Amino acid sequence: MIDLHAHIIPGIDDGPASLDEARELVVAAAAAGTTHIVATPHMNPGQFPNTADGIRQAFDGCRAALEQASGIRLAVAAEVRVGLDTVELVERDAIPWLGEYLEQPVMLVEFPHTHLPTEACNVVRWLVTRGIVPMIAHPERNREIMQNYQRLRELADLGCLFQLTASAMVGGFGPVAQQVGRKMVEDNLVFALASDMHNTRFRPPALGPGGRVIEKIVGSSRVADLVFDNPWKIVSPLFASPAIDLVV
Ligand SMILES: [Fe+2]
Repeated sequence: MIDLHAHIIPGIDDGPASLDEARELVVAAAAAGTTHIVATPHMNPGQFPNTADGIRQAFDGCRAALEQASGIRLAVAAEVRVGLDTVELVERDAIPWLGEYLEQPVMLVEFPHTHLPTEACNVVRWLVTRGIVPMIAHPERNREIMQNYQRLRELADLGCLFQLTASAMVGGFGPVAQQVGRKMVEDNLVFALASDMHNTRFRPPALGPGGRVIEKIVGSSRVADLVFDNPWKIVSPLFASPAIDLVV
């Protein structure tokens, strides 16, 4: 399975604190059937002020150890907290893209969990006009969308794609997020299922349990779209270089 949203780089956000913890996380992901992971650390100026260069450097520092421990192929992008500063990052080509969709760059976009700020929505609109595809991370957990599903449809109409978090489908973020996730699946609004893994205890790496819930709703071929075909359509350019054990 292809996991396009994961916090596995140690020490740069609220993911693993050490290389040992990161190793434990990717080994658990491999045991759960994941073969490819895109590391997507937070880029959030207020909380985790990571830069594209800093993320790349941190990734290069842990990639070999994590690939060798798990056998998983790794690539790197970022989960970008959308705001006015995002415009400047795009202008100076300082966004680590998640990949491409229909030949357009894709940005993994995070809103605050509390609401959809008008300013951030305007920036998402601006991204679309610039030919950038926003993939919205875990909309099922956004309180404004939980209260008003129409807001999700508005984002879909703009051209956003949606990433659903697997653990939300087994109640990991409460019953409302689970119901919203279920409705997104029924309405065919989910493009990819991902783990958003942070640690093995509370934010785990497995896609399977969530996938099995989705399978009961829409069948196994649709689940395959969400964990294989669709994410690969986007992230495959990130994996274009040979595996690290072939390089050295
Ligand atoms: Fe995340």
